[in-house]
Amino acid sequence: MAAINVVSWLLILGLFSHCSATNIRLNTDYRLDNILILVQNENFASVDNMKALKGYLAYVSHQMARATEAVGRRISINTVRLLVPPSKIAELKNAGVFPSMPATWESEVSADVVLENPGGKVKTIPADECYGPNKWIKMPEYTVRRNATANSFLRELSIYLWGLLSESVSGVQFYQDGSGTFQPSVCSSNTPGQYRLRNSISSGADSSSICLSELVRFENFSLAKMQEICEFTTKPSPTGNNWGSILSQPVSLFCDSKSFNNDTRVHHSSQVPNPFNRACGGLSAGEVLRKHPHFLPTTPGASVQETQPTVLLVEKSAFRDVVLVLDVSGSMNHDRIKNEIRSATIYVKYFLETGARLSIVSFSATARELQTLLKVSDDSVREQLAKKIQSLAAGGSTNISGAIYEAMSILGATAPYTKSQTGFVVLITDGEHNTGPNLTVAIEQAAKTSIVFDTISISRYADERMARLANLTNGRSTFVSENTPRMLNWRSPLQIW
Ligand SMILES: *[C@@H]1O[C@H](CO)[C@@H](O)[C@H](O)[C@H]1NC(C)=O
Ligand SMILES: *[C@@H]1O[C@H](CO)[C@@H](O)[C@H](O)[C@H]1NC(C)=O
Ligand SMILES: *[C@@H]1O[C@H](CO)[C@@H](O)[C@H](O)[C@H]1NC(C)=O
Ligand SMILES: *[C@@H]1O[C@H](CO)[C@@H](O)[C@H](O)[C@H]1NC(C)=O
Ligand SMILES: *[C@@H]1O[C@H](CO)[C@@H](O)[C@H](O)[C@H]1NC(C)=O
Ligand SMILES: *[C@@H]1O[C@H](CO)[C@@H](O)[C@H](O)[C@H]1NC(C)=O
Repeated sequence: MAAINVVSWLLILGLFSHCSATNIRLNTDYRLDNILILVQNENFASVDNMKALKGYLAYVSHQMARATEAVGRRISINTVRLLVPPSKIAELKNAGVFPSMPATWESEVSADVVLENPGGKVKTIPADECYGPNKWIKMPEYTVRRNATANSFLRELSIYLWGLLSESVSGVQFYQDGSGTFQPSVCSSNTPGQYRLRNSISSGADSSSICLSELVRFENFSLAKMQEICEFTTKPSPTGNNWGSILSQPVSLFCDSKSFNNDTRVHHSSQVPNPFNRACGGLSAGEVLRKHPHFLPTTPGASVQETQPTVLLVEKSAFRDVVLVLDVSGSMNHDRIKNEIRSATIYVKYFLETGARLSIVSFSATARELQTLLKVSDDSVREQLAKKIQSLAAGGSTNISGAIYEAMSILGATAPYTKSQTGFVVLITDGEHNTGPNLTVAIEQAAKTSIVFDTISISRYADERMARLANLTNGRSTFVSENTPRMLNWRSPLQIW
């Protein structure tokens, strides 16, 4: 254990894709509840900045209502929860602007939006499938002071929530249609706009005619050549809108199909080789939106007048109690248990934050509390915990539900289970549940609490309900191949609210 290569562990952590299901819900007023924003930087989480964030969200909500109205349903934002560094809670509460609530299901991993320092662009971690898996939205801190960036945030939110991918082709202004004609890479081939020669903006010559000329077409210009000499800029619509695309602001029209909009200027061209057409089978933005449950005519409710979104502070639970639950059933023998011990030791020595309390449970036919909750105050406690882990040996059947109930009870959660019961459990198993109480029921009970379960399955035969346990408790489930020597992906309880 002497030489841990910290860099390679960090790399392993980096391999994790953040891919939790969002808790954002559309309520019956057609307003969105539960958007979870993580503010990472303590210096940034000032009263002033958080007030600006609140104003920014009001603006985003307004723009959203306006844009969604274009597809027949006014959707806006109702509640946002803020995860701020715990040291800032008191100050923000005292400002009297942000009501607070005790933590329930929140974790850093379940954040929809991450406010990052420093700059960069608002960016959704690439979603490249139509209705693809949700990833979180990264947003540079400065944006909250610039309402002008609201539309790029709205665009990312639209990718995140509704699967609207990019309608532009990054760096590629033109494509060649079926007849070989160069067309601008915008949503519709009828979009009003202007061709011109690059670098001849003030030449006075009618450069558009050159870019459109037969000469260009028939001299057999390559696409690259066309890009090199020509460009296309869309003309703002009479109302200041950019035609048919949520990419530009302000939006009150989407690229759509003929059957929904008689305005030819927004008729979607499915030939543009953009990510949207590739992923969504050539559907237009309007059609993709209308197929989403938030916009289905059968979704019950009614649009109301928008009001400022409510921004709630999430108060992190005071205690950081962690239960490490380790499978020691018979199938764990040889390399698996060695791997488990090695990785759990690394967790205890390097990942567990100082000040957290750790309990260790091992389980096979029954679950055993190997270590009662112990506060990690210094390195000697870490050594003591590591020794406990090193004593593990494999043998017996697999009682996963017993282990789940044991971990919950250590965290003070006994029936009746409620959301006020919190804590963090990391459960490692390689096997199929084969003895003990009904596992499906145990998972349902766990989901009634606010305890977060991260599950780590270390063989292909591990019970598939582990993913469900993690999903329902806002934890994260990982599968790690038994042949991977670097076994586990840990996170610190610091990341759980
Ligand atoms: C952004 O818009 C909101 C809502 O209209 C407003 O309250 C806020 O002051 C604006 N913020 C800035 C920095 O202009
Ligand atoms: C341009 O391409 C067409 C079709 O491939 C070909 O018939 C024609 O000869 C080419 N013209 C020139 C000038 O290369
Ligand atoms: C398009 O125009 C036709 C004829 O004016 C009309 O009947 C139809 O309702 C219009 N469609 C839409 C989607 O506005
Ligand atoms: C399963 O584990 C729990 C907790 O240790 C224990 O109470 C129970 O007896 C075990 N086995 C069975 C068959 O329930
Ligand atoms: C466990 O409980 C679930 C849900 O109540 C039920 O559908 C299932 O049949 C039970 N499994 C066993 C083995 O009793
Ligand atoms: C996780 O839960 C969400 C919401 O209930 C669901 O849509 C999603 O399919 C689940 N994912 C997995 C991997 O079970």
